[in-house]
Amino acid sequence: SKKLSIGLFGFGVVGQGLYDIIKTKNLNIEIVKFAIKDPNKKRSLPAELFTTDKEELLNNPEINTIVELINDTEAAFEIVSRALSSGKNVVSASKKMIALHLEELIELQHKHGTSLLYEGAVCGSIPIIRNLEEYYDNELLHSISGIFNGSSNYILSKGFIEGLDYDSALKQAQDLGFAETDPTSDVGGYDAKYKLVIAAAHAYGVIVPPDEVFNLGIQNLAAQDLQYAREKNLKIKLVPVAKELDERNVALFVLPKFVNETEFLYNVEYEYNGVTVQAAFADQQFFFGKGAGGHPTGSAVLSDIAALRYNYGYEYKKAKEKTDLKFTNNIELNIYL
Ligand code: HSE
Repeated sequence: SKKLSIGLFGFGVVGQGLYDIIKTKNLNIEIVKFAIKDPNKKRSLPAELFTTDKEELLNNPEINTIVELINDTEAAFEIVSRALSSGKNVVSASKKMIALHLEELIELQHKHGTSLLYEGAVCGSIPIIRNLEEYYDNELLHSISGIFNGSSNYILSKGFIEGLDYDSALKQAQDLGFAETDPTSDVGGYDAKYKLVIAAAHAYGVIVPPDEVFNLGIQNLAAQDLQYAREKNLKIKLVPVAKELDERNVALFVLPKFVNETEFLYNVEYEYNGVTVQAAFADQQFFFGKGAGGHPTGSAVLSDIAALRYNYGYEYKKAKEKTDLKFTNNIELNIYL
Protein backbone atom coordinates (compact mmCIF):
# COMPACT_ATOMS: atom_id res chain seq x y z
CA SER A 1 0.00 0.00 0.00
CA LYS A 2 1.13 3.55 -0.59
CA LYS A 3 2.68 5.64 2.18
CA LEU A 4 0.46 8.37 3.57
CA SER A 5 2.09 11.59 4.71
CA ILE A 6 -0.48 13.46 6.70
CA GLY A 7 -1.10 17.08 7.52
CA LEU A 8 -3.36 17.07 10.58
CA PHE A 9 -5.61 20.04 11.35
CA GLY A 10 -6.72 20.12 15.00
CA PHE A 11 -5.18 18.41 17.99
CA GLY A 12 -8.13 18.33 20.38
CA VAL A 13 -9.97 15.33 21.83
CA VAL A 14 -10.28 13.47 18.52
CA GLY A 15 -6.87 14.51 17.14
CA GLN A 16 -5.15 13.31 20.29
CA GLY A 17 -7.20 10.09 20.25
CA LEU A 18 -6.19 9.48 16.65
CA TYR A 19 -2.54 10.11 17.45
CA ASP A 20 -2.63 7.64 20.40
CA ILE A 21 -4.00 4.92 18.12
CA ILE A 22 -1.62 5.55 15.21
CA LYS A 23 1.31 5.17 17.62
CA THR A 24 0.22 1.62 18.47
CA LYS A 25 0.10 0.60 14.79
CA ASN A 26 2.53 -0.04 12.00
CA LEU A 27 0.56 1.28 9.04
CA ASN A 28 2.98 3.22 6.86
CA ILE A 29 1.24 6.42 7.96
CA GLU A 30 3.16 9.43 9.21
CA ILE A 31 1.80 12.70 10.56
CA VAL A 32 4.25 15.21 9.08
CA LYS A 33 2.79 18.41 10.51
CA PHE A 34 0.07 19.47 12.96
CA ALA A 35 -1.83 22.73 12.41
CA ILE A 36 -3.26 24.15 15.62
CA LYS A 37 -5.05 27.31 16.72
CA ASP A 38 -3.39 28.01 20.06
CA PRO A 39 0.45 27.96 19.93
CA ASN A 40 0.73 28.52 23.70
CA LYS A 41 -1.11 25.38 24.79
CA LYS A 42 1.18 22.75 26.27
CA ARG A 43 1.62 19.84 23.82
CA SER A 44 2.80 16.30 24.32
CA LEU A 45 4.96 16.39 21.14
CA PRO A 46 8.02 18.38 19.96
CA ALA A 47 7.20 22.02 19.16
CA GLU A 48 8.62 21.85 15.60
CA LEU A 49 5.78 19.50 14.59
CA PHE A 50 3.22 22.26 15.17
CA THR A 51 2.32 25.33 13.17
CA THR A 52 -0.48 27.89 13.21
CA ASP A 53 -0.10 28.51 9.47
CA LYS A 54 -2.45 26.35 7.40
CA GLU A 55 -0.42 27.07 4.24
CA GLU A 56 2.46 25.02 5.67
CA LEU A 57 0.23 21.96 5.33
CA LEU A 58 -1.85 22.81 2.25
CA ASN A 59 1.16 23.87 0.17
CA ASN A 60 3.52 21.15 1.33
CA PRO A 61 4.13 18.78 -1.63
CA GLU A 62 5.33 16.07 0.75
CA ILE A 63 1.85 15.92 2.36
CA ASN A 64 -0.53 13.79 0.27
CA THR A 65 -3.37 13.48 2.79
CA ILE A 66 -5.16 16.04 4.92
CA VAL A 67 -6.97 15.06 8.11
CA GLU A 68 -9.32 17.80 9.29
CA LEU A 69 -10.50 17.66 12.92
CA ILE A 70 -11.19 21.29 13.83
CA ASN A 71 -14.42 22.76 15.13
CA ASP A 72 -14.73 25.90 13.02
CA THR A 73 -17.18 25.02 10.25
CA GLU A 74 -16.23 27.60 7.64
CA ALA A 75 -12.48 27.23 8.22
CA ALA A 76 -12.92 23.45 7.92
CA PHE A 77 -14.74 23.85 4.59
CA GLU A 78 -11.98 26.04 3.20
CA ILE A 79 -9.27 23.59 4.25
CA VAL A 80 -11.15 20.54 2.91
CA SER A 81 -12.15 22.11 -0.40
CA ARG A 82 -8.68 23.51 -1.06
CA ALA A 83 -7.07 20.16 -0.25
CA LEU A 84 -9.47 18.23 -2.52
CA SER A 85 -8.88 20.74 -5.34
CA SER A 86 -5.11 20.43 -5.08
CA GLY A 87 -5.00 16.65 -5.43
CA LYS A 88 -4.86 15.68 -1.76
CA ASN A 89 -7.25 13.11 -0.28
CA VAL A 90 -9.04 14.18 2.88
CA VAL A 91 -10.48 12.61 6.02
CA SER A 92 -12.80 14.83 8.06
CA ALA A 93 -14.96 14.43 11.15
CA SER A 94 -16.74 17.80 10.80
CA LYS A 95 -20.36 16.69 10.48
CA LYS A 96 -21.85 20.18 10.37
CA MET A 97 -19.46 21.27 7.63
CA ILE A 98 -20.08 18.12 5.60
CA ALA A 99 -23.88 18.26 5.99
CA LEU A 100 -23.95 21.93 4.94
CA HIS A 101 -21.64 21.50 1.92
CA LEU A 102 -22.22 17.93 0.79
CA GLU A 103 -23.22 18.72 -2.79
CA GLU A 104 -20.11 20.87 -3.39
CA LEU A 105 -17.86 18.33 -1.69
CA ILE A 106 -19.12 15.54 -3.95
CA GLU A 107 -18.57 17.72 -7.03
CA LEU A 108 -15.03 18.60 -5.95
CA GLN A 109 -14.15 14.94 -5.56
CA HIS A 110 -15.48 14.10 -9.05
CA LYS A 111 -13.79 17.09 -10.64
CA HIS A 112 -10.36 16.53 -9.12
CA GLY A 113 -10.35 12.74 -8.77
CA THR A 114 -9.75 12.98 -5.03
CA SER A 115 -11.52 11.32 -2.10
CA LEU A 116 -13.14 12.66 1.03
CA LEU A 117 -13.97 10.12 3.75
CA TYR A 118 -15.89 10.93 6.95
CA GLU A 119 -16.84 7.79 8.85
CA GLY A 120 -15.84 9.50 12.11
CA ALA A 121 -18.38 12.27 11.48
CA VAL A 122 -21.42 10.00 11.89
CA CYS A 123 -21.99 7.94 15.04
CA GLY A 124 -18.35 7.94 16.17
CA SER A 125 -16.91 4.45 16.08
CA ILE A 126 -19.80 2.78 14.19
CA PRO A 127 -18.85 2.21 10.52
CA ILE A 128 -22.29 3.29 9.36
CA ILE A 129 -21.47 5.09 6.10
CA ARG A 130 -19.65 2.08 4.70
CA ASN A 131 -22.51 -0.15 5.84
CA LEU A 132 -25.19 2.02 4.24
CA GLU A 133 -23.27 1.78 0.96
CA GLU A 134 -23.32 -2.01 1.35
CA TYR A 135 -27.08 -1.99 0.70
CA TYR A 136 -26.94 -0.33 -2.74
CA ASP A 137 -27.17 -3.47 -4.83
CA ASN A 138 -29.36 -5.69 -2.73
CA GLU A 139 -31.81 -3.70 -0.64
CA LEU A 140 -34.59 -1.17 -0.34
CA LEU A 141 -34.23 0.76 2.88
CA HIS A 142 -37.57 1.56 4.48
CA SER A 143 -36.03 3.58 7.28
CA ILE A 144 -32.92 4.45 9.26
CA SER A 145 -33.29 5.66 12.80
CA GLY A 146 -31.21 5.64 15.92
CA ILE A 147 -29.30 7.49 18.57
CA PHE A 148 -26.76 9.68 16.81
CA ASN A 149 -25.73 12.06 19.59
CA GLY A 150 -23.68 10.75 22.49
CA SER A 151 -23.94 13.86 24.65
CA SER A 152 -27.72 14.07 24.75
CA ASN A 153 -27.99 10.32 25.27
CA TYR A 154 -25.46 10.63 28.10
CA ILE A 155 -27.60 13.34 29.72
CA LEU A 156 -30.78 11.26 29.34
CA SER A 157 -29.09 8.15 30.79
CA LYS A 158 -27.62 10.10 33.71
CA GLY A 159 -31.06 11.50 34.46
CA PHE A 160 -33.01 8.32 33.95
CA ILE A 161 -30.69 5.78 35.58
CA GLU A 162 -28.87 7.86 38.17
CA GLY A 163 -31.31 10.72 38.77
CA LEU A 164 -28.64 13.30 37.96
CA ASP A 165 -29.91 16.78 37.06
CA TYR A 166 -29.61 18.11 33.51
CA ASP A 167 -26.95 20.78 34.11
CA SER A 168 -24.60 18.46 36.02
CA ALA A 169 -24.99 15.75 33.39
CA LEU A 170 -24.24 18.23 30.59
CA LYS A 171 -21.17 19.44 32.46
CA GLN A 172 -19.93 15.83 32.74
CA ALA A 173 -20.51 15.26 29.01
CA GLN A 174 -18.42 18.37 28.34
CA ASP A 175 -15.64 17.33 30.74
CA LEU A 176 -15.47 13.91 29.09
CA GLY A 177 -14.99 15.57 25.69
CA PHE A 178 -18.29 14.35 24.21
CA ALA A 179 -20.09 17.67 23.79
CA GLU A 180 -19.64 20.21 20.98
CA THR A 181 -18.12 23.62 21.78
CA ASP A 182 -21.68 24.97 21.63
CA PRO A 183 -23.73 22.32 23.49
CA THR A 184 -26.94 23.64 21.90
CA SER A 185 -25.88 21.66 18.87
CA ASP A 186 -26.04 18.46 20.94
CA VAL A 187 -29.06 19.03 23.17
CA GLY A 188 -31.05 20.87 20.50
CA GLY A 189 -30.83 17.97 18.03
CA TYR A 190 -28.70 19.85 15.47
CA ASP A 191 -25.68 17.57 15.70
CA ALA A 192 -27.96 14.52 15.27
CA LYS A 193 -29.58 16.26 12.30
CA TYR A 194 -26.25 16.88 10.52
CA LYS A 195 -25.39 13.20 10.94
CA LEU A 196 -28.86 12.21 9.68
CA VAL A 197 -28.46 14.38 6.58
CA ILE A 198 -25.12 12.68 5.81
CA ALA A 199 -26.56 9.20 6.41
CA ALA A 200 -29.58 9.96 4.17
CA ALA A 201 -27.28 11.01 1.32
CA HIS A 202 -25.62 7.60 1.41
CA ALA A 203 -28.77 5.56 2.11
CA TYR A 204 -31.16 7.29 -0.29
CA GLY A 205 -29.12 9.54 -2.56
CA VAL A 206 -31.05 12.60 -1.36
CA ILE A 207 -29.04 15.65 -0.39
CA VAL A 208 -31.06 17.75 2.00
CA PRO A 209 -30.19 21.22 3.31
CA PRO A 210 -30.09 20.79 7.11
CA ASP A 211 -32.25 23.83 7.75
CA GLU A 212 -35.14 22.16 5.91
CA VAL A 213 -35.16 19.29 8.40
CA PHE A 214 -37.25 19.61 11.55
CA ASN A 215 -35.37 19.04 14.81
CA LEU A 216 -36.50 19.14 18.40
CA GLY A 217 -33.98 18.52 21.16
CA ILE A 218 -34.02 17.32 24.75
CA GLN A 219 -33.40 20.64 26.46
CA ASN A 220 -37.03 21.26 27.29
CA LEU A 221 -37.91 17.83 28.63
CA ALA A 222 -39.22 18.07 32.16
CA ALA A 223 -38.60 15.78 35.12
CA GLN A 224 -42.26 14.75 34.77
CA ASP A 225 -41.60 13.48 31.25
CA LEU A 226 -38.89 11.14 32.54
CA GLN A 227 -41.13 10.16 35.44
CA TYR A 228 -44.02 9.34 33.07
CA ALA A 229 -41.70 7.20 30.93
CA ARG A 230 -40.40 5.36 33.98
CA GLU A 231 -43.91 4.54 35.17
CA LYS A 232 -44.84 3.14 31.76
CA ASN A 233 -41.61 1.16 31.48
CA LEU A 234 -40.50 3.39 28.58
CA LYS A 235 -37.39 5.48 27.98
CA ILE A 236 -37.04 8.79 26.19
CA LYS A 237 -34.39 8.93 23.48
CA LEU A 238 -33.41 11.63 20.98
CA VAL A 239 -34.16 9.86 17.69
CA PRO A 240 -33.27 11.03 14.18
CA VAL A 241 -35.32 9.29 11.47
CA ALA A 242 -34.99 9.01 7.69
CA LYS A 243 -38.03 7.26 6.31
CA GLU A 244 -39.08 6.35 2.81
CA LEU A 245 -42.75 7.38 2.71
CA ASP A 246 -43.40 5.97 -0.75
CA GLU A 247 -41.45 5.43 -3.98
CA ARG A 248 -40.87 9.15 -4.39
CA ASN A 249 -40.51 10.72 -0.99
CA VAL A 250 -38.12 10.49 1.94
CA ALA A 251 -38.84 12.32 5.18
CA LEU A 252 -36.19 13.34 7.71
CA PHE A 253 -36.72 14.59 11.25
CA VAL A 254 -35.17 14.56 14.73
CA LEU A 255 -37.37 14.19 17.81
CA PRO A 256 -37.29 12.99 21.41
CA LYS A 257 -39.33 9.81 21.39
CA PHE A 258 -40.62 7.19 23.81
CA VAL A 259 -38.88 3.88 23.23
CA ASN A 260 -40.18 0.58 24.61
CA GLU A 261 -38.14 -2.37 25.81
CA THR A 262 -38.65 -4.40 22.64
CA GLU A 263 -36.70 -1.78 20.64
CA PHE A 264 -32.92 -1.98 20.26
CA LEU A 265 -32.55 1.68 21.20
CA TYR A 266 -33.98 0.99 24.66
CA ASN A 267 -30.64 -0.41 25.84
CA VAL A 268 -28.41 2.22 24.21
CA GLU A 269 -27.16 4.26 27.16
CA TYR A 270 -24.64 7.03 27.93
CA GLU A 271 -22.31 7.98 25.07
CA TYR A 272 -23.24 4.92 23.03
CA ASN A 273 -24.98 5.31 19.69
CA GLY A 274 -27.17 2.87 17.80
CA VAL A 275 -28.53 2.71 14.27
CA THR A 276 -31.58 0.65 13.34
CA VAL A 277 -32.03 -0.07 9.65
CA GLN A 278 -35.33 -1.41 8.38
CA ALA A 279 -34.72 -3.06 5.03
CA ALA A 280 -37.17 -4.76 2.66
CA PHE A 281 -35.34 -8.08 2.40
CA ALA A 282 -32.85 -8.26 5.25
CA ASP A 283 -35.57 -7.02 7.62
CA GLN A 284 -34.26 -5.24 10.72
CA GLN A 285 -30.56 -4.69 11.43
CA PHE A 286 -28.90 -2.90 14.31
CA PHE A 287 -25.48 -1.27 14.70
CA PHE A 288 -24.17 -0.37 18.13
CA GLY A 289 -21.04 1.33 19.48
CA LYS A 290 -19.53 4.38 21.12
CA GLY A 291 -20.64 7.58 19.41
CA ALA A 292 -18.32 10.10 21.02
CA GLY A 293 -14.94 10.39 22.69
CA GLY A 294 -11.34 10.63 21.52
CA HIS A 295 -10.46 6.98 21.07
CA PRO A 296 -13.76 5.71 19.57
CA THR A 297 -13.90 8.61 17.09
CA GLY A 298 -10.15 8.46 16.51
CA SER A 299 -10.56 4.79 15.62
CA ALA A 300 -13.13 5.65 12.92
CA VAL A 301 -10.90 8.43 11.57
CA LEU A 302 -7.99 6.02 11.36
CA SER A 303 -10.10 3.46 9.48
CA ASP A 304 -10.70 6.15 6.83
CA ILE A 305 -7.04 7.14 6.69
CA ALA A 306 -6.00 3.50 6.36
CA ALA A 307 -8.62 2.93 3.62
CA LEU A 308 -7.07 5.75 1.55
CA ARG A 309 -3.91 3.65 1.21
CA TYR A 310 -6.01 1.38 -1.01
CA ASN A 311 -7.70 4.26 -2.87
CA TYR A 312 -11.06 3.66 -1.19
CA GLY A 313 -13.69 6.25 -2.01
CA TYR A 314 -17.42 6.50 -1.39
CA GLU A 315 -19.63 5.44 -4.28
CA TYR A 316 -22.59 7.73 -3.48
CA LYS A 317 -25.94 6.22 -4.28
CA LYS A 318 -26.99 8.93 -6.71
CA ALA A 319 -23.88 8.39 -8.83
CA LYS A 320 -24.28 4.64 -8.80
CA GLU A 321 -28.04 4.21 -9.15
CA LYS A 322 -30.52 6.53 -10.70
CA THR A 323 -32.79 7.44 -7.84
CA ASP A 324 -35.82 9.66 -8.10
CA LEU A 325 -36.33 9.98 -4.39
CA LYS A 326 -37.01 13.47 -3.09
CA PHE A 327 -36.91 14.95 0.36
CA THR A 328 -40.22 16.01 1.84
CA ASN A 329 -41.09 17.52 5.18
CA ASN A 330 -44.76 17.13 4.48
CA ILE A 331 -45.38 14.59 7.21
CA GLU A 332 -47.54 14.44 10.33
CA LEU A 333 -44.87 14.42 13.00
CA ASN A 334 -47.29 14.20 15.89
CA ILE A 335 -47.67 10.47 15.28
CA TYR A 336 -44.01 10.08 16.25
CA LEU A 337 -44.13 12.18 19.39
N1 HSE B 1 -20.97 15.99 20.24
C1 HSE B 1 -21.03 14.74 19.54
C2 HSE B 1 -21.86 13.77 20.35
C3 HSE B 1 -19.66 14.20 19.34
O1 HSE B 1 -22.12 14.04 21.52
O2 HSE B 1 -22.31 12.76 19.81
C4 HSE B 1 -19.59 13.05 18.37
O3 HSE B 1 -19.95 13.44 17.08
